[in-house]
Amino acid sequence: MQLQHLPKAELHLHIEGTLEPELAFALAARNGIELPYPDTETLRRAYLFSDLQSFLDLYYGLMAVLRTEQDFEELTDAYLARAAAQGVRHAEIFFDPQAHAARGVPMGTVVEGISRALARSEERHGVSTQLIMCFLRDESADSALRTLAAAEPYLHLIAAVGLDSAEVGHPPSKFREVYEAAGALGLRKVAHAGEEGPPAYVREALDVLGVERIDHGLRSMEDPELVERLVRDRVPLTLCPLSNVRLRAVDVLEGHPLRQMMDAGLLCTVNSDDPAYFGGYAGDTFHAVHEALGLGHEELRTLARNSFLAAFLDHDEERRARYLAEVETYDFDADFDLG
Ligand code: ADE
Ligand code: ZN
Repeated sequence: MQLQHLPKAELHLHIEGTLEPELAFALAARNGIELPYPDTETLRRAYLFSDLQSFLDLYYGLMAVLRTEQDFEELTDAYLARAAAQGVRHAEIFFDPQAHAARGVPMGTVVEGISRALARSEERHGVSTQLIMCFLRDESADSALRTLAAAEPYLHLIAAVGLDSAEVGHPPSKFREVYEAAGALGLRKVAHAGEEGPPAYVREALDVLGVERIDHGLRSMEDPELVERLVRDRVPLTLCPLSNVRLRAVDVLEGHPLRQMMDAGLLCTVNSDDPAYFGGYAGDTFHAVHEALGLGHEELRTLARNSFLAAFLDHDEERRARYLAEVETYDFDADFDLG
């Protein structure tokens, strides 16, 4: 079954994680940067990760090629073209300003480059978008506060704040102050929690940071009371099954708890996280969970419906309703015939 045409929202996508090796080498050449890999094949062969940190080391290193507004614009436009081809109708995109500031690339270069591509996205790709600024949780709380201050001139372009990078040892409570400040500025809130970290981090993200969605939340399943609460409060989880396999949170996709999580009543969505590194964009991810977990048409439709229910589309409920109607009328058999 081809699931590339099933309408879906992508809610957990790091724009830096869409940097394909070919574009990385092209940008390296343009910017006069030497990469520590001879060619794209060798680079791809390095994508054998043992955990989140081993991925992050390579991921932050390869970002060295992203320097100009044009680089960020081209990166974002290439992602949107790929996403559109895989049925994405709405994308909420993370970016990591601290990873660029550390290399001397200012906030404005990053936000304006990404936003130039986003401004044309509906017209060019038929994809509506939102931008989410993430704080690196392995940096200090002060650094996060300085990052929020640097973003103030660009808040009209940013919908929400998020929290990513190395999780264990960096609990959500470390960022209480910056989330309070972000909320006061009118930003919405999400956070990665329960990817490698314990269920207590999911609770903290809800209780201390006041997030509306949990990114990953995989390990919530270890805490039945937490599951009950997430179900009762309809807290969306942005799961990333291919990422969980590549970063060794689960052994094989066949062992991923997505089906059990759906059966428990959790509001699950499936997303691609860092698709250039983890082997698939949004449609590929739907296809993979269909094959590995035997999810049928109605379960796949539920995942697509959930993605639009969990999207930050409150400012445009008509649009959400239109997307949801597309999901309800989607014909899996016609899609199969399209190949
Ligand atoms: N940054 C990019 N991908 C990430 C992930 N899966 N977890 C935490 N931080 C990330
Ligand atoms: Zn992520």
